[in-house]
Amino acid sequence: MDQLRPFIGGNWKMNLHLDQARDLARALIENLQQLHHADVVICPAFPYLAQVGVIIAESTIRLGAQDFYHQSNGAFTGEVSLSMLADVGADVVLVGHSERRHVLGESDATVNEKVLAALDADFDVILCVGETGEQRAQNHTEKIICGQLLRGLANVSPEQLSHVTIAYEPVWAIGTGNTATPNDAQNAHQLLRHTLKDQIAQGNAAPAVRIQYGGSVKPDNAVELIACEDVDGFLVGGASLNVDDFSQIVKATVS
Ligand code: PGA
Repeated sequence: MDQLRPFIGGNWKMNLHLDQARDLARALIENLQQLHHADVVICPAFPYLAQVGVIIAESTIRLGAQDFYHQSNGAFTGEVSLSMLADVGADVVLVGHSERRHVLGESDATVNEKVLAALDADFDVILCVGETGEQRAQNHTEKIICGQLLRGLANVSPEQLSHVTIAYEPVWAIGTGNTATPNDAQNAHQLLRHTLKDQIAQGNAAPAVRIQYGGSVKPDNAVELIACEDVDGFLVGGASLNVDDFSQIVKATVS
């Protein structure tokens, strides 16, 4: 199979203040302007989306949101709709991040509702899956990640898959410094790709679905991880807050 174009996401989570968010966006444009080999999306916190969006509007960096509500409008105090995100220039959304699943209590059903709503609204979706440390210790990794994948993508058509990216993010690796080994990452990614192909794409579109690895990605482990056949990019948390680290991670994906 041909190498897929790398896709790297920066998930800024609930970090940075406005000045820092703007400075980081400007510095990333500066550092990444000559790089045309990969797709890059940054996901600031909601209050900064519009202003970061203006800064990156003329660049190749895309704007993503960390969350949204699946309804289009109405009495949903505190929530943000996809059309509001589109208004400020976002066209990518994260869905099912482990912090939303495990800290904020999102179920697979909620994740699926969001995936379907986002695809319907012409957003690209990064669907996150990953096992906890306990599930891994019990050898449940395969069951957990394939279950999250299939339930998250329920009723997604093979055609819509071209707007889906999967992020394999073992929960025990997020923000801990414990990165999956290239071998573990490759095994999980290969399994996810086969499951996509057999059960959702009916043999067609699955090879074109990019699968990011996430969980303590740093400049010094990015090179060996991206060398894995089925690792097509990264979803980066902590290291995406540092312009040099994130830029080096993006540069590591040049084949
Ligand atoms: P991390 O976070 O890179 O800080 O481990 C990854 C993520 O949560 O997407």
